[in-house]
Amino acid sequence: MKNTVLTLLKQKQSGEKISMLTAYDYSTAKLVDEAEINTILVGDSLGMVMLGYESTLPVTMEDMISHTASVSRGAKNAFVIADMPFMSYQTNVEQAMDNAGRLMKEGNANAVKLEGGASVCNQIKAISQAGIPVVAHLGLTPQSVNAFGGFKVQGKSEADAEKIIQDALDIEKAGACMVVLECVPAKLATLITKLLTIPTIGIGAGNGCDGQVLVYHDMLGMYEGVAPKFAKKFAQIGQQMKQAFEEYDKQVKSTQFPDESHIFKIDEDIISSLENKYNGDAK
Ligand code: KIV
Repeated sequence: MKNTVLTLLKQKQSGEKISMLTAYDYSTAKLVDEAEINTILVGDSLGMVMLGYESTLPVTMEDMISHTASVSRGAKNAFVIADMPFMSYQTNVEQAMDNAGRLMKEGNANAVKLEGGASVCNQIKAISQAGIPVVAHLGLTPQSVNAFGGFKVQGKSEADAEKIIQDALDIEKAGACMVVLECVPAKLATLITKLLTIPTIGIGAGNGCDGQVLVYHDMLGMYEGVAPKFAKKFAQIGQQMKQAFEEYDKQVKSTQFPDESHIFKIDEDIISSLENKYNGDAK
């Protein structure tokens, strides 16, 4: 059954935790969907883990649309959320509406996500009033990494924590259907979760949230950048891939691969006739 804003809200109300993972392509989305993960986030983290940038800032609308469309083709039941990339919504409400619309029409997303609190409430209000579910993102918002001076835990002082609480209340009032809380103290995330009607999804925010999200490259050990403290490794797929690539290289060079089981045959008479005809030309 397809997950929707309503089924996700019901999960919060009944205390059933919501699972979310990133995916950026059809094949991975299909695997995540088959594992019955509730929601897939096509995060702009794709700029770092798929495209090799140092931050999420260079990601374009075209990148997001193309990756979201391929994820949507693989996600039968998971609710697909597409990140709005840096400077695709901050300028004004019209720009935000146009770009949110493109992610829905061209990317076939079920919702869009944008970063920020009070400063983007007008955008959240307009987009959600147009019938597009909006997921907010508070705490460590990676598109503001330069303003934060690095990837740091947010909301540790009373004033900072209060700002995040107020932002959470504001985005809910503006019409957000869900909020990601990234890198905030666990007890602050638990308090926000109790204050809000909409589901909270934590990443580095403890298990008091209504759900959890991880970047799949982090949880599978596929990304060699600095691993954040919260990114539990559920497998070491990166190492397994590297070993398989090394073994392939070895077998190609030693002619162990391909063997009899991987080849197609030709009638002996045909090949001998061709060999007789062309052998003199062999280099
Ligand atoms: O881009 C992303 O993957 C995200 C998650 C870290 C929540 O926003």
